[in-house]
Amino acid sequence: MPAAPPPEILAAFEAAKGFMPADEGLALYAAAVDAARLGLPLLEVGTYCGRSTLLLADAARAAGVTAVTVDHHRGSEEQQPGWEYHDPATVDPELGVMDTLPAFRRTLYRAGLEEHVVALVGRSPQIAALWRAPLGLVFVDGGHTDEHAGADYEGWAPRVAEGGLLVLHDVFPDPVDEFTGQAPYRVYLRALESGAFTEVSATGSLRVLRRAEAGGTGRG
Ligand SMILES: C[S@@+](CC[C@H](N)C(=O)[O-])C[C@H]1O[C@@H](n2cnc3c(N)ncnc32)[C@H](O)[C@@H]1O
Repeated sequence: MPAAPPPEILAAFEAAKGFMPADEGLALYAAAVDAARLGLPLLEVGTYCGRSTLLLADAARAAGVTAVTVDHHRGSEEQQPGWEYHDPATVDPELGVMDTLPAFRRTLYRAGLEEHVVALVGRSPQIAALWRAPLGLVFVDGGHTDEHAGADYEGWAPRVAEGGLLVLHDVFPDPVDEFTGQAPYRVYLRALESGAFTEVSATGSLRVLRRAEAGGTGRG
């Protein structure tokens, strides 16, 4: 039986602004609980308003590790004004540009999970270039172009510890199903073809991959 979030965390997840459906959230939570056993931080690329962060944070809290979440908080391409996934409430009224940091902080505060999360505000490749510590889990849910998804994979997959998990969101093998492009699917194929990762589970568009105990670098 996979680990499930406590009811109050599931309720906070469902109340939070975001795009992840509940079945994928449950799969992400189970992966986070599994990976947290390594005693290493759990890292997310793509915080948005904190919907998925809540799940990593609760798993991190239970295991006594830290969840780290990375976002520049200016939104992805498909979330900009005029695009399908734009939410006008995420626009800073003074600057007229997206800023999801305030909503994220409210989400985390309301769930009582602030002290289990380190939020890094900036561009994922810049932060990855500074990062050296091994990670128990990397969850990639940032930009969906080949440039961004590819850079997230190259920057963060090498930090997944042996036995740790690489979790990819919005993996659509069939172009008919995709809504933001197939770059995450191409990253998924790269990860498998690298030989460093094997698939553990698939739920909706969420893929959980594990780095083999004596694995390679994760670069495909
Ligand atoms: C699909 S949303 C994340 C959704 C979130 N995981 C959830 O479940 O609600 C993608 C996020 O990635 C961020 N993002 C896109 N490209 C980025 C980059 N290169 N560096 C940092 N953040 C990025 C956007 O600002 C946006 O908030």
